Amino acid sequence: MSFTGKSVIVTGASSGIGAATGILFAEQGANVVIVGRNETKLNAVAQKLPKNAKSLILKADVTTDAKKIIDETVNKFGRIDILVNNAGFAKYGSLTDGKFLEAYDTIMATNVRAVAELTMLALPHLTKTKGNIINISSIAAMAVPLDGRFLAYSVSKAALDHFTRGAALEFASKGIRVNSVNPGPVATDFLDNMGVDISVDVIKEMTALKRVSTPEEIGELILYLAGDKAQGITGSIMLTDNGCLLK
Ligand SMILES: NC(=O)c1ccc[n+]([C@@H]2O[C@H](COP(=O)([O-])OP(=O)(O)OC[C@H]3O[C@@H](n4cnc5c(N)ncnc54)[C@H](OP(=O)(O)O)[C@@H]3O)[C@@H](O)[C@H]2O)c1
Repeated sequence: MSFTGKSVIVTGASSGIGAATGILFAEQGANVVIVGRNETKLNAVAQKLPKNAKSLILKADVTTDAKKIIDETVNKFGRIDILVNNAGFAKYGSLTDGKFLEAYDTIMATNVRAVAELTMLALPHLTKTKGNIINISSIAAMAVPLDGRFLAYSVSKAALDHFTRGAALEFASKGIRVNSVNPGPVATDFLDNMGVDISVDVIKEMTALKRVSTPEEIGELILYLAGDKAQGITGSIMLTDNGCLLK
């Protein structure tokens, strides 16, 4: 699958799923925009890009710098073909511990509001290229969390899935596709960033296949959805969870 000459923005590409996805797109010839806030991690990803890759390493916060992300991409590459809204995080806060609203406000700003803002700003450019959008959601969107401290995160991803469907319907007449990839457990910095210490073995036991995914296998699905072979797929919520939801 070649993406030569296509311009791809990947938010949250300084680690995990976003980093793997940015590298995979670059390996397939895309001009990649690697967005994140942590400069050390951004530089580490830059080192892993193919030597001849056309890239823009962009230190930016999706909650405040959406316009900068779109403007700098267009200034550098002249077009936007694919927007991967991957930046996201979780934070504990339940209805009974009094921390729900604090978690809700910060999580929604990144996991949903920033996605909406980037989508609207990218729209004129995606209209020109008949491009597409992939939102990175989660199995958390589909199951009521057993641990109430995850409720705000689950609500954000459920909202994101509905946003994906609504945007897909609204943009279909423009030839723009919008899809979602919803992973189960993936080996990334996600839990570390939450300050949660759970062993990989415990997480594996939560899945039917007794495994966690690599960021690269999630990236491969993102590339498939972004490519022409997926021309008939829009508004889809693609689960890739090692059978977690079967249990
Ligand atoms: N790992 C899993 O098990 C799992 C499962 C289901 C869904 N997901 C979803 O997958 C996506 C990627 O997560 P991951 O697992 O790859 O975790 P990760 O390694 O923690 O990566 C999250 C990325 O998001 C970036 N980010 C967070 N807030 C940001 C902001 N305000 N502005 C710009 N960048 C921001 C982080 O970069 P900086 O810190 O540099 O800003 C980092 O690059 C998330 O949406 C997550 O909800 C993960």
